[in-house]
Amino acid sequence: MTAALDAKEFGRRRRQLMRMLGRDAIAILPAAPVRTRNADLPYAYRQDSYFHYLTGFPEPESVAVLAPGRPQGEYLLFVRERDLTREDWDGPRSGPAGAVERYGADDAFPIDDVEEILPGLMEGRPRIYYTMGTNEEFDPRILGWVNALRVQARYGVQAPQEIAALSHLLDDMRLYKSRAEQACLRRAATLTVDAHRRAMRFTRPGRMEYEVMAEVVHEFRRHNADLAYHPIVAGGANACIMHYADNDQVLREGDLLLLDAGCELDCYAADVTRTYPVGGRFTPAQRAVYEVVLRAQLAAIDRVRPGNHWDDPHTEAVRVITHGLVELGLLAGRPASLIREGAYRQFFNHRTGHWLGIDVHDVGDYKVGGEWRVLEPGMALTVEPGIYVKPSAKVPKEFWNIGVRIEDDVLVGRQGPEVLTGELEKDPDAVQDMVQAA
Ligand code: GLY
Ligand code: MN
Ligand code: MN
Repeated sequence: MTAALDAKEFGRRRRQLMRMLGRDAIAILPAAPVRTRNADLPYAYRQDSYFHYLTGFPEPESVAVLAPGRPQGEYLLFVRERDLTREDWDGPRSGPAGAVERYGADDAFPIDDVEEILPGLMEGRPRIYYTMGTNEEFDPRILGWVNALRVQARYGVQAPQEIAALSHLLDDMRLYKSRAEQACLRRAATLTVDAHRRAMRFTRPGRMEYEVMAEVVHEFRRHNADLAYHPIVAGGANACIMHYADNDQVLREGDLLLLDAGCELDCYAADVTRTYPVGGRFTPAQRAVYEVVLRAQLAAIDRVRPGNHWDDPHTEAVRVITHGLVELGLLAGRPASLIREGAYRQFFNHRTGHWLGIDVHDVGDYKVGGEWRVLEPGMALTVEPGIYVKPSAKVPKEFWNIGVRIEDDVLVGRQGPEVLTGELEKDPDAVQDMVQAA
């Protein structure tokens, strides 16, 4: 995971945060732990999103400290020391000198010295900003240092009084994407569009779900991007399993394929779903369902405007889908009552989107003071309504096992929605053409 943003952007973020912290506080962030896959082999390392957001420093076993107003330096990094033998095995390390030279730290120390130095940095600062509950190994160390300072109170040591969640401040900062971040999201979106097109052209009866996944992975990896999440490659009835993950079934003529896949490029995610006929032609029932979902998605996207609130796109998607379900004969009754009763939930049982950024399900409150958050320029989200029809005596057989979701990534622009993945075909005829263009 490398950063495409320049050092100034990280510096701006730290300064903004330090203004909010004030001089009586200190912020502490550990890097993500290395996670074991099995035996003594680790998963590929993925830096903690908050740590990355403030430092851009890619190495494990590091701790970042922000101490506003500290005369000897406000931004400190504790990092692994250079070790030529270890570096022969695991690759180069920055070491403290590299952390200062290349990552803008005012000062940097070996990680092994953190026990000795960090309690002294906490002393005299009544408030510690640290997010409890996300790093099981580090939480008890923070408490241990605070308690050690408390017992020294009778010697005049001023121990911290309060541990506040740093995530509370950072989530709000991360919700507003800077111009440079918007450019990162655009790049991740564009690469994801290319990968989906490749998958569409590749799809045909007899191919396996994992073969489609391989096309997507190939396109991502050849641009040094990763999967932002395990993709859903769901043929036929599998599309009605919300978190289908096996991706090991054969694709059959007459079925739809629901592909939900996005890349993480330079630490920013895309999250895109398209649904298309494996054999290149929708059945009338598939097309009818598809058109309802598409109408709902376009209507929901149109609600992504500054001044509207978070729930507006979802409300609109629910409205269009409920009307559509009635037209299709899948629900009976007055749409307004069906919406009130939540009848649509048997076919559309998830929200219409989520924030998007460094995390696929990005941080940021959806409600503020009990009210849905108002959309503002620079926020990024997905819009992803769907209809999923399980076999049931109440449903005509031609609709059984149809699962359709259409998902795009949208930036709240000053004038309205900017659909970052809007180039990717979703008109039903255009989708058929893509699948047929083998
Ligand atoms: N791919 C996960 C989601 O759509 O939220
Ligand atoms: Mn998705
Ligand atoms: Mn999503």
